[in-house]
Amino acid sequence: MSDSTTERSSGHGPVVGVLTGGGDAPGLNAALCGLGRRLREAGATLLGFRDGWRGVIENDAVMIDLDDGLRGLLAQGGTVLGSSSANPYRDPERDVPRVRATFAARGLDALVAIGGDGTLDAANRLVEEEKLPIVAAPKTIDNDVAETDFTFGFWTAVERVTSLMDDLRTTARSHGRVLVVECMGRHVGWITAYAGVAAEAETILVPEQPVDLRAVEERMQRLRADGTTSAILSIAEGARVWRDGVCLSSMKKDRWGEYETGGSAELVAGHIQDSLGWEARAVVLGHLQRAGSPCAFDRIFALRLGARAARLALEGRFGLMAAMQNGEVVDVPIARAVGTRKVLPKRFLERYGTFFLPDADD
Ligand code: F6P
Repeated sequence: MSDSTTERSSGHGPVVGVLTGGGDAPGLNAALCGLGRRLREAGATLLGFRDGWRGVIENDAVMIDLDDGLRGLLAQGGTVLGSSSANPYRDPERDVPRVRATFAARGLDALVAIGGDGTLDAANRLVEEEKLPIVAAPKTIDNDVAETDFTFGFWTAVERVTSLMDDLRTTARSHGRVLVVECMGRHVGWITAYAGVAAEAETILVPEQPVDLRAVEERMQRLRADGTTSAILSIAEGARVWRDGVCLSSMKKDRWGEYETGGSAELVAGHIQDSLGWEARAVVLGHLQRAGSPCAFDRIFALRLGARAARLALEGRFGLMAAMQNGEVVDVPIARAVGTRKVLPKRFLERYGTFFLPDADD
């Protein structure tokens, strides 16, 4: 990759830009590989914008060598382009014109935006309101993007969390403790639920199903009565914890007007220890969940989405996003993917009902 602030193109083919925005996810580099391979065949030039939308706003990009620059990256976690939560719509009067200026200065024929809901939302608005030539590919370990079966990074996170829960079981057993394991996912429980089922957690608590501490208490009492001496509880960082109709979770809101996440494991572990006298600890897995190499599925999945995004860019099919539906790689309007959060479906909660607690709303 070579540094540049003014370079337009090295060849005669189209000039395509790419950015990776939001929290990183394993598979981002694999998506760049898929994108680069397809663009190379088409004789295109690829410009990598640094740190998500920041690079586009500030015209900060590197020229990616499509012969050699992406070799050996398939298995590498993170993103070689860097990422951030910058968004041109945070200060649109200032930054949207800057985005337009970058497109003009670079002679961009297309931009591929790879990201989660924030990145995709900006991409969609830039297509609809500014008519900019943008296509997209979804990523996030949270798996909360609509119109796609999965986002890459999710299965790697599930593998990682499952394996950590398996390991935690050994120490929980040795000490006769309850370990309440807090998983990422913001306002959805995909990682928490899939890893929780795979690791046979004694209970799973997700935002999709409000949690009352009385129900947790009853479940733990029943386990103890059955002779269980240690347990793993899988809890989402976004789970909202109630007691007798009062919400005990943080009422603070973030800059998107949504409740701040985090602290759920501490709350539940404290309650189990205080009310039942069963030693309990909170374990917050944090960024380990999105660190490291992508699993084989995510490598191949991301590679395919990157290649499909390249095709969309080359064919000038702007406003579309590469996605997976019923196991096939397909194209969907970015507009359909934004604005709706993909939550755990009711049928999952029903199928694995024994893992979950009665709904506090019922
Ligand atoms: O959206 C991905 C994600 O990893 C969430 O699961 C988590 O809540 C958040 O990002 C953490 O963000 P940050 O890296 O900014 O702390």
